[in-house]
Amino acid sequence: MTGNHDVRVARAFHDATTHTPASIRTSGHTLEWDIKPFPFKVYTDLPTISLPRDVDLAEVDTLRALDPAARTEGQPLTLGRLAALLYLTAGVTRKKTYPGGGEVLFRAAASTGALYQTEVYVAAGNVQDLPPGLYHFCPGDFTLRRLRDGDVRHAFAEAAAEPDLARRAATIVLSALFWRNTWKYQGRGWRHLYWDSGTMLANLTAAAHGLGLTPRLLTGFVDADVNRLLGLDAEHEAALELVEVGPMGSPAPARGTIDEIRHDVMPLSSAEVDYPELREMQSASSLATPADVSAWRKAVPPGRRRSPSGSMSLPAAIGDAGRGLGDTIQHRGSSRRFTHAPLTVIELATMLWWSTRAVAADVPSGLVDVFLVVNAVDGVPSGAYRYWRDEHALELIRAGELRRESAYLCLEQPLGGDAAAVLYFMAPLDALLAAYGNRGYRLVNLEAGLIGGRAYLTAYAQRFGATGLTFYDRDVVKFFAPASAGLDAIFVTALGRGARPSW
Ligand SMILES: Cc1cc2nc3c(=O)[nH]c(=O)nc-3n(C[C@H](O)[C@H](O)[C@H](O)COP(=O)(O)O)c2cc1C
Repeated sequence: MTGNHDVRVARAFHDATTHTPASIRTSGHTLEWDIKPFPFKVYTDLPTISLPRDVDLAEVDTLRALDPAARTEGQPLTLGRLAALLYLTAGVTRKKTYPGGGEVLFRAAASTGALYQTEVYVAAGNVQDLPPGLYHFCPGDFTLRRLRDGDVRHAFAEAAAEPDLARRAATIVLSALFWRNTWKYQGRGWRHLYWDSGTMLANLTAAAHGLGLTPRLLTGFVDADVNRLLGLDAEHEAALELVEVGPMGSPAPARGTIDEIRHDVMPLSSAEVDYPELREMQSASSLATPADVSAWRKAVPPGRRRSPSGSMSLPAAIGDAGRGLGDTIQHRGSSRRFTHAPLTVIELATMLWWSTRAVAADVPSGLVDVFLVVNAVDGVPSGAYRYWRDEHALELIRAGELRRESAYLCLEQPLGGDAAAVLYFMAPLDALLAAYGNRGYRLVNLEAGLIGGRAYLTAYAQRFGATGLTFYDRDVVKFFAPASAGLDAIFVTALGRGARPSW
């Protein structure tokens, strides 16, 4: 077996990068501040194109932007709408200065360690006021830089085995620079590439839906071809996902051979540490040809089970939070402390429902199961539960006060115990690897990040808080046993009141 089919690679990577109390206490890894990577990718030989700043920030209600069934009228993709989309996905939303002068520019979507390794590119074909071409978005100065002249949509359509990409107005591509995350998180940082691009995709798909741009996510593509089109150095960075946006037009013509590009970029730092296991995981989950992509998309995931009888039906989610998406995103920030004040059952039900609705994509959603610890929700007894998204119901696994256990599971972080509710994402990893190969491991981390990102949005829309958290992998699975049999822990998001981030 080779390549994507040899799923021993993903299983071994997952097992080797689990956190345990012993691994945390003996890691010995220290942060070398002198070589902390610069948080922006800067193409030094290309002129900047300023994006308009006075734009419509998707003032559609946040929950409607998350509702796949909400009809939004199709809109042309103007430069203003593209600017709004990029800002709400990856823009700088606040600045914090630390004693000693250090400064962090926080962004629209949450990102592990505020390291922001995810970069954004746009293959534009039919964007009003922007010539066709391939562009890189720099959130630091809110500009685009043109990497390729002319319409390259046909080449992206071929690389993604999706003819629609040649007809949609533009394709947004997310990529990641490994070192920007591994500087702190070492090899486990590979998982963060997908969690963090997931939180960005939560914003991107909601904003594009709210702006009438009908987004569709593509997780299957020929990795080497997309990396080459973007001019990425595949030893250090990689394309992660594509999102087609905007109206359909006539198909972009084929352009024949597309040249290599290698524009100069500012170095990230003066020295860099290589994590070969991360590169191996990325390459072993790659697809080699458009035919492989088409075949991979047809994989059938394990069937969804039904909630057991006796599960507790949740009240219907509200459909309108009274807070526009742009306002929600501009006020989003990870909670640094939760009070023990409870959420209402409607708030919990609304968060769970809208976080788990499917986004339009080339693969099915629902690959990840949502478990939770309820610490303080009026009308829901404290305990451990499983959320059944199709039935919108909670199955009780264990009743009782579990704040201490939940804090422990979240790498002994108090946030996991103080939160009103903590979501634990788990997935039948071996069954999904059997269906999707190593790339199935990308899918579960991505879906968990995407639901986590949508949980942030539903929380801030309802004016409570959220934060992503990391966790002790095997202890999470043991904690939810026997309901967690055959599952692996993938990601955690905590929700609760209080303690806004200080900005
Ligand atoms: C996938 C993910 C995992 C995270 N893990 C933790 C964590 O373990 N502990 C923590 O305090 N914050 C965690 N965070 C929050 C980040 O530190 C935060 O998103 C980042 O500092 C940017 O700040 P902001 O979300 O307030 O904009 C996580 C965020 C994400 C998206």
